Amino acid sequence: SQPKPHSDTLLEWYDQHARDLPWRISPADRAQGVWPDPYRIWLSEVMLQQTTVAAVKDYFHRFTTRWPTVADLAAAEDADVMGEWAGLGYYARARNLLKCARVVAQDHGGVFPDTYDGLIKLPGIGPYTAAAISAIAFDRKETVLDGNVERVMARLYDIHTPLPVAKPELKEKAADLTPTGRPGDHAQAVMDLGATICTPRNPACGICPWRTPCAARLAGTATELPKKTPK
Ligand code: ADE
Repeated sequence: SQPKPHSDTLLEWYDQHARDLPWRISPADRAQGVWPDPYRIWLSEVMLQQTTVAAVKDYFHRFTTRWPTVADLAAAEDADVMGEWAGLGYYARARNLLKCARVVAQDHGGVFPDTYDGLIKLPGIGPYTAAAISAIAFDRKETVLDGNVERVMARLYDIHTPLPVAKPELKEKAADLTPTGRPGDHAQAVMDLGATICTPRNPACGICPWRTPCAARLAGTATELPKKTPK
């Protein structure tokens, strides 16, 4: 029989081990036809840039309690939003957040565009965020490449080319692995794998759903990867 595609193995793992995150729809609920709220996906992805999941959770809770919809956020006073953001850092992100909320509220009737091309035009939404929102909120087949995904790809294919030169190659590998079915769960599964198993220092290779196909595990190079060009 044919070996299973790597993406099937990963989705089976995700169905058992997906992290329970406040903006996330569980694989079981998703299978029942429940969709995520694009506003919550957008807000979480903006907060997660350069901030850990653990730190984001409380901020996410306060923001969504105070401003449950993008229209509510758009109507907020700048100073109130900056005040709630305090401690998250990178304050340009908070300014862009408000700008984006107001564009969505005023120009799009409070409805987020449901494609990469529509999303990338919004203030503060770059290639990573546009891909993440279209994959996670709208289940579109987009390639989401963050630091976790780069590390997982470099190891799975034992790629020793240093970052940032390796980026296009890693993105191509990530794109080739993305399945047509459940691309949003796949994107979140690769990120969870990188955050919980394929970690930078002590990867838990023994319990990794990709331990069999992983080229770096076979070569014994996992902890060396990804390589980085010295600054
Ligand atoms: N890091 C950034 N976005 C994430 C997501 N949607 N799931 C898991 N980790 C993430």
